[in-house]
Amino acid sequence: MSMLVTKLDHIWITLTLRLARPPATATPKVQLSTLPPEPVIPSKKPFKVELLGGKRYSWCTCGYSKKQPFCDGAHKLKAQGLSPLRFVPETDSTAWLCGCKYTNNPPYCDGTHKQDFIISATLHKETES
Ligand code: FES
Repeated sequence: MSMLVTKLDHIWITLTLRLARPPATATPKVQLSTLPPEPVIPSKKPFKVELLGGKRYSWCTCGYSKKQPFCDGAHKLKAQGLSPLRFVPETDSTAWLCGCKYTNNPPYCDGTHKQDFIISATLHKETES
């Protein structure tokens, strides 16, 4: 609380200012970080898919999609700040698309799923959505 004395139209007035403080047990209602959310892990193995050359695909980066490894729009509600990776293969091909969402060569599996931080991580279940 603080006091402020000011002159308004030649009349001196005194204002008392109080800062609204949340209760000590209240949790902040704003996200303090500007970092995008971390993806969840829908699979600890890659998905083998047949890709068509010239077709546009959207690979899920958040892990919440129920159409793995492709995007179903779930990021809009569950992982704002993440968006799908769009890609167009040049030719028809068989590919192993990352299922853990931590590859360093998205959308393709690079073996990252064999690292300890993925092996020991909790697998996201659709019921947790
Ligand atoms: S499944 Fe993600 S790197 Fe292999």
